[in-house]
Amino acid sequence: MCGIVGAAARRNVVPILIEGLRKLEYRGYDSAGLATLNGNLDRVRAVGRVADLQTRADQARVDAPTGIAHTRWATHGGVTEDNAHPHFSAGAGHEICVVHNGIIENHEALRRRLREQGYVFHSDTDTEVIAHLVHSRVVSGDTLFEAVRSCVRELQGAYAIAVISKAEPDTVVGSRRGSPLLLGVGVDGSGKGENFLASDTSALLQVTKYVAYLEEGDVVEIRPDGYTIVDADDAPASRPIVESQLSADAIELGQYSHYMQKEIFEQPGAIANTLEMVAGASALSPELFGADAAEILGRTRQILILACGTSFHAGLVAKYWIESIAKLPVSVEIASEYRYRDSVALPDTLVITISQSGETADTLAALQYAKQLGQSDTLTICNVPESALIRQSKLRFLTRAGPEIGVASTKAFTTQLASLFVLTMVLAKVHGRLDAKREHELITQMRHLPAAMNHILECEPAVRHWAQRFAPKEHALFLGRGVHYPIAMEGALKLKEISYIHAEAYAAGELKHGPLALVDRSMPVVVVAPNDALIEKLKSNLQEVRARGGELYVFADRDTHIDPSDGVNIINLHDHAGPLSPILHVVPLQLLSYHVSLARGTDVDKPRNLAKSVTVE
Ligand code: G6P
Repeated sequence: MCGIVGAAARRNVVPILIEGLRKLEYRGYDSAGLATLNGNLDRVRAVGRVADLQTRADQARVDAPTGIAHTRWATHGGVTEDNAHPHFSAGAGHEICVVHNGIIENHEALRRRLREQGYVFHSDTDTEVIAHLVHSRVVSGDTLFEAVRSCVRELQGAYAIAVISKAEPDTVVGSRRGSPLLLGVGVDGSGKGENFLASDTSALLQVTKYVAYLEEGDVVEIRPDGYTIVDADDAPASRPIVESQLSADAIELGQYSHYMQKEIFEQPGAIANTLEMVAGASALSPELFGADAAEILGRTRQILILACGTSFHAGLVAKYWIESIAKLPVSVEIASEYRYRDSVALPDTLVITISQSGETADTLAALQYAKQLGQSDTLTICNVPESALIRQSKLRFLTRAGPEIGVASTKAFTTQLASLFVLTMVLAKVHGRLDAKREHELITQMRHLPAAMNHILECEPAVRHWAQRFAPKEHALFLGRGVHYPIAMEGALKLKEISYIHAEAYAAGELKHGPLALVDRSMPVVVVAPNDALIEKLKSNLQEVRARGGELYVFADRDTHIDPSDGVNIINLHDHAGPLSPILHVVPLQLLSYHVSLARGTDVDKPRNLAKSVTVE
C-alpha cells in the first residue's frame, strides 16, 4: 500500500528519508513526497517514483534534521501532486504535515465538520482530514503529541501516520491502528541519539537494527534524544526493543536484474529455511505450529482457509492435500468475499489465514469476522513475524522466505506451499491417518525439495526462448487438473500481473464447457502436465486444443512421455514428484511470466496499478 518513514535526528535526514522510501517503494509507487523541519516547514512532492522525488528534493536543496516521507499507492483521489503526501494544514501561526497509510472510513463526516470550521481542502484524499484535525488541536493549545493522541480517537478505519509541526522542530509523532508502523532506535556517527519511524524494518536498516513494533492504537513521539509511547487507552506504554535479524543483503538486488528474478532463484534456499526444523526431524510434531497445536488440531473437524491473491492459490492447493492425505474437509475462500457474506459457522473449525505480508486488510477483516462467528481456533501461515495476522492467531507457522520485494509473489508462494504440506502431514498424523512409514517417506521427499527445485530452475533458457514467442500475444489460457489446477491459476495470475497479457486458467476438464470457443491459432495454451493419476485425461484435453489449431506450451514431467510435434511445444522437467509436485511445477510458470515481462519491456517489480501489500479494502 503506502510506505512511511519519519526521522528525528541531529544530522540531515533527507538522504535517510529518501533511501527509506526506496526500500518501501514495493508498498506503492504512484507518487512520493517528504516534509522537513529546519526553521521552516518545507514540502517536496512528485508524481512518479521515488527517483523523481529525489530529483525534486535535490533541486530544492532541502536539508533538515527532522522529517517525514511517503510513497503512495492511490486509493482516495487520483495520482496527482495535490493528492501526494505529505498533506498540509496551516493557519493561526501553525503548520502541520501528515503522511498516512490506510483508509480513514469516516473522512467524509470529518471533512464536513472541518469545512464548517473554515478549513479548505486542497486534495481528494482522506488523509487531509488528519492534517486539519491535528492543526485544529494544536491551535487550541495542545502539543503535537497531545493533538495526535486526541485526534486518533476520532479516526475510524486503518491507519499508520507520522506528523510534524513547525512549532516543534525536533519532534515527529506517529500512530498506528490496522496498518504497520515501527520505531527505530539509533545513534549517529558522533554517538548522539536519533529515532525513526517506518512501515517496515527494511527502510531503517541503513541507520539501525534496533526496532520496537508498535501495538494497535499506540501513539509515539520521537525526538533525537528519546521517545515516549502511549497505548490505545492513552496510558504510558513500553514496547520491547528487538534487534532485527533482517540483513541488509536480503533486501539488495546483488547479481540480479530484478527482485522477482532474485526471488525466483532464492526459492531452493527459502524452502530449505522454511523446512529446517522439519527436514532435520525423523517425525513431525504439532508443536511446530505453537504450544496449543496438539489440542487445537486434534479437535479440528473441518478447515476454512482465508486469503487473497497468490496466497489464496496456496490455500486451494492445500485443500487438495488436506482432503486427500488428512481426510478433513476444507473450504477455501477469497477473504474479501468471506468477510461480507453470510456463512454457516461449524463447530470445531480451524480457520487458517495465509499471507505473505500478514497485513492484507481483507484477510485481517476475514479473520476477525470468522472469530465473531465463534470460530476461535485460528492458525496463520505468514512471512512476517510480528505482523498483525500472526499476533491475532492462536497458532502460527512462519514461512522463512526472507523479504519479498517484487510485487508478483514467488518465493512466498512456494514456502507457503511447503508449510501447508507440513500442516497436512501434522493434521494427518494427529488424526491417525499417517503411519510412520508414510511419514518417513514424505519427510524424505520434503528434504529433497530444494535440490529438486534447483534442477527445475535449469529450464530457464528454454523458458526464455518460449517467452519471445509469447511476448506479442494479448491472451493466453492456462490449463491444469486436480492439485495442479490452482498452479495453472497462479501461472495465469503471474503472467497478467507483470506482462499485462490477459491470461485465464481453467481446470482442463472444463475446457469443452466454454473456453474451447476461444482457441484458435493465435491463442497460446500453457499446460501444467505432471505425471499423476489424471495425465491420460489431460492428454485428451491437449488433443481438444490441437484439433482447434491452438498452440500448446506444455510443462511436462519427464516420465509423461508427451512428445513434441507441430504446435505442441514441450519442456520436460523432473520425474513426477508425487504430492509435492505443485511446488515444483509453479517455478517454470514464474520464469515464463518473468521473461515475457522482460521481452515486453514492462516494469517487472513494480507493475502498473498494483502494490505488494494491500492494507486497505
Ligand atoms: C497483493 C499482492 C499479491 C498478494 C496479495 C495478498 O495483491 O500483489 O502478490 O498475493 O496481495 O497478499 P498477502 O501479503 O496477504 O499474501
